[in-house]
Amino acid sequence: MSAKDLILGIETSCDETAAAVVDRGGAVRSNVVASQLDVHARYGGVVPELASREHLRAIVVVVREALQRAGATVDGLAAISVTEGPGLAGALLVGITYAKALSFASGRPLIAVNHLEGHIHAVLLEAAPPVAYPLVALVVSGGHSHLYEVSEPGRYRVAGQTRDDAAGEAYDKVAKLLGFGYPGGPVIDQLAKFGDPQAVRFSLANIKSNPMDLSFSGLKTAVLRWVEARDLTGEIDARRRLADSRPTVEEWLAVTPQATLDLLASFQRTVLEELLSRVERLARDRGIGTALITGGVAANQALREQAARLAGLRVLFPSRALSTDNAAMIAAAAWPKFDRGLFAPLTLGANPGLTLGH
Ligand code: KG4
Ligand code: ZN
Repeated sequence: MSAKDLILGIETSCDETAAAVVDRGGAVRSNVVASQLDVHARYGGVVPELASREHLRAIVVVVREALQRAGATVDGLAAISVTEGPGLAGALLVGITYAKALSFASGRPLIAVNHLEGHIHAVLLEAAPPVAYPLVALVVSGGHSHLYEVSEPGRYRVAGQTRDDAAGEAYDKVAKLLGFGYPGGPVIDQLAKFGDPQAVRFSLANIKSNPMDLSFSGLKTAVLRWVEARDLTGEIDARRRLADSRPTVEEWLAVTPQATLDLLASFQRTVLEELLSRVERLARDRGIGTALITGGVAANQALREQAARLAGLRVLFPSRALSTDNAAMIAAAAWPKFDRGLFAPLTLGANPGLTLGH
């Protein structure tokens, strides 16, 4: 395979500065992710101004590293691809501006990629044998909870979406409330195993106008009420003091009573039921046998286990490394656009509210 069969991907939509090289056959030649987690953790969420500044500091080194590891040079690439949106405006701009500069200097074409389509390609990239269409795709991350019917490659119909918070956002808010720091998903994922998922009965959202839509704000409020009804200040303060030091599961368990572990397990059960029931229902209604679940929340262990038990539905997940934000998925999503000659002009700008499908 010649160097012309390589696409560079650049991703800076949120709090990871990422660059990767993916070849025409879908092999990931390099995948570099510089996480800003340490920068944002103390604020309990991503601070947009800090994100842009960190992307600026990291972008040149991250791209150079991705090219070096792949044994590629900019001049030899087939194309340079970059996340156009959705995401944080200032963060997106760093990646886009650098990608445009590389494209201009090298004469290699520029390809704009939708971050959500990128997450879907994280699964398509790794699927062996290749996935059959039609399929159901659920994108669940810190910023998005979207359910799509994908009738053929590149054709997305929005079947449902969250009315309020994204699934990952619900994890992050509940974790923050309880003193577990940011991001909340991985900690709750690990600790929920130690609790009783049936202990607290939260009700599921029921959206009459579109039963495929999701909602997590009611659940978040119910968790808040549960916490307010008890005096948890002592344990929450103890966890807040611990949160900055990357605690182990044992350290978390030492400051988390059983009732709180039960709360976490019950919260997670409700979120996963909310997600999987939508996937199952859409697949059944449309007679579809394959689903994919992607985005940061797709890293969740219990979600993977429960999805594997769904009867009559093959559910695919990205590997852990490609579940959260990365640039390999951006380069992978760029290949079909390259083949169709869908190149972006050098006037490309950030599109923070970009949607996918119709
Ligand atoms: O896709 P991603 O890296 O960034 C966005 O595009 O938002 O997703 C990050 C989100 C965060 O909300 C984080 O709490 C959640 O994914 N997350 C998880 C897990 N790992 C990350 N949620 C549940 N279980 C996990 N294991
Ligand atoms: Zn994402």
